[in-house]
Amino acid sequence: MDIEKARQRVAQLTLELNNHNHRYYVLSTPIITDFEFDALLQTLAQIENQFPELKSPLSPTQRVGESKSDDFESVIHLRPMLSLDNSYNEEDLFEFDKSVKKILDQSLDSEIQYSCELKFDGLSISLHYENGMLQKAVTRGDGIAGDNVTENIKTIKSIPLQLHGTYPNSFEIRGEVYMPHPVFDALNKQRAQNNEELLKNPRNAASGSIKIKNPKMVAQRKLDCFLYQVLGDGLPFTTHIENLKASKTWGFKVSEHSTVCKNINEVIDYIHLWDTKRTQLSYDTDGVVVKVNSLILQKNLGFIAKSPRWAKAYKFKAEQAITQLLSISYQVGRTGAITPVANLSPVELGGTTIKRASLHNSDIIKKLDLKENDFVIIEKGGEIIPKIIAVDLSKRNSQQQSISFITHCPECQAPLVKKDDEANHFCENELNCKPQVLGKIEHFVSRKAMNIDSIGSETIEKLYQENLIKNYSHLYDLTFEQILTLNANAEKSANNLINGIHESKNVPFDKVLFAIGIRHVGETTAKKIVKKLASINTIMQANKEELLAIDEVGEVIADSIIQFFQNKNNVQIIDKLKRAGLQLELINTEDSQLSSKLNNCTFVISGVFEKYSRDEYKELIEKNGGKNVSSISKKTSYLLAGANMGPEKLKKAEELKIPIINEAQFLELIEK
Ligand code: IVH
Repeated sequence: MDIEKARQRVAQLTLELNNHNHRYYVLSTPIITDFEFDALLQTLAQIENQFPELKSPLSPTQRVGESKSDDFESVIHLRPMLSLDNSYNEEDLFEFDKSVKKILDQSLDSEIQYSCELKFDGLSISLHYENGMLQKAVTRGDGIAGDNVTENIKTIKSIPLQLHGTYPNSFEIRGEVYMPHPVFDALNKQRAQNNEELLKNPRNAASGSIKIKNPKMVAQRKLDCFLYQVLGDGLPFTTHIENLKASKTWGFKVSEHSTVCKNINEVIDYIHLWDTKRTQLSYDTDGVVVKVNSLILQKNLGFIAKSPRWAKAYKFKAEQAITQLLSISYQVGRTGAITPVANLSPVELGGTTIKRASLHNSDIIKKLDLKENDFVIIEKGGEIIPKIIAVDLSKRNSQQQSISFITHCPECQAPLVKKDDEANHFCENELNCKPQVLGKIEHFVSRKAMNIDSIGSETIEKLYQENLIKNYSHLYDLTFEQILTLNANAEKSANNLINGIHESKNVPFDKVLFAIGIRHVGETTAKKIVKKLASINTIMQANKEELLAIDEVGEVIADSIIQFFQNKNNVQIIDKLKRAGLQLELINTEDSQLSSKLNNCTFVISGVFEKYSRDEYKELIEKNGGKNVSSISKKTSYLLAGANMGPEKLKKAEELKIPIINEAQFLELIEK
């Protein structure tokens, strides 16, 4: 194929593919199969490979996110991206209507035309188009400047890279990027399988996704976008809704539920309708946005502070349901903390059946003034687990009994203890209370502790039932034959278990210290303690002052350590671990040090990484002489950012001008 022919073919394929993308992602009326689409895309990719000069950054092949964005450039918005004034009830809206008329000098009997739209719950984005081509996509940021996330936005298939029809030469269009419910559910299911922390809600998932520094990963997040405002000098129409409808013909996805209302009463009707109907949508909405439809009137109304006078957001109340409290169960955690859980009569809420809600502790029960068999109002406030927000007193009768919090452990019947400075009740029978014993062993073998992955919670329970283990130190006494008695046919898994236990004897001391389960001593604290005190004997003998001198060890942790080693049983367990040959002191610090390239550097790590885990990065930092800290300050040298990092951290780093580096840049730092 000569270049001229290739050019024609590329143009034709681009047109065809853009058209199919639009049909599929915006109109939902595809006319070819996915397979046929992929074949066309592949043909285009092949020609572009053969003639790289024909590859445009706006080619449909570029939506998969080939080019990496190392960092987001900060871009000042052409027009500030403001927020909306909120209202929560009908009166607020009547007031809004009145004030609009007053400012416009219109009689209160006149009628103002409003547009009503759903308020999509995601993150706002501004798209710039020149001559029909997407130039830039910028996040809201602080409203004045945002991040240039064009490469990531290009992965959203419903956003056209090249427009069709008759569009203004130069304009800006704003909208909301969101994650559809089915995508969010699938993502969380996958995260649960990988033992990763679940994403709280689709909004967080969407805003986290758009900040991922690798467009290929963003593409997997299958985000979508509704456009809700066209801005520019040469717009075709003088009303907001007409311009929005026109933008649909240029290729944008505009909600079919946006409408024009003749007056404020029609606005109220629209809100009533969508307050319930919104639960049927496959994406989150948190309200309705009401805008004066005429652009001339909008101009006359202008702005106050950070929001326009011509628009108002009506916020839906969080979805609620009323159901009856059937009983309260009490769960015992590995530390002995008791968590009350409300068992509810099953009720539908926001598309799922709710049967339980956490009550956290006795103070919460008291605060709610909860009585047996009460009808309770539960609410889903954007989070997965619903909460009980109040009791429906109208359904209460005088016979209902107050809830008396249990006085004894539901598992071992030991009396419960509640200290003034703690919210929870505790069962202190840590040696014989089954969930505590099993929980401690499960913690001991977990990945971040001794990492004995050949044993699961079922096996631990069986070993406990058979009286073969009563605490984690007994793991080191287990024989192959004993394990085989659990399941005569499982020679291979018995072998794996013995090997796993044996290998755990090489696990470094800081992980052992974390594994033994001293309350409040997490992974990082354990590392700090080991660095300073170097052996279990020194830790056991350390007094409070010595403990307090360790970085990040405060009163609570110091007391907890002292208390742990005052307990004779714990001392016996430690003795047993010593005899079993576990690493109970820091060895070869010099050898384990890889370099001093990061001396005097402090790092904050945030997000999810591809090449190594977060923990491995922490270790690499320390082994190269650097220090890990949890929050950003002026003293932080670098923010090592992965996918899905917290927006607060990013903001703070930008404010303090802390260099943000990705994993590749970090690895370069230590490989130099
Ligand atoms: S119009 C001057 N329309 O709500 C602001 N905003 O609280 C014009 N939003 O930052 C915004 N759906 O992210 C508008 N149909 C809609 C919207 C919408 C969601 C978000 C947007 C904005 C926030 C304001």
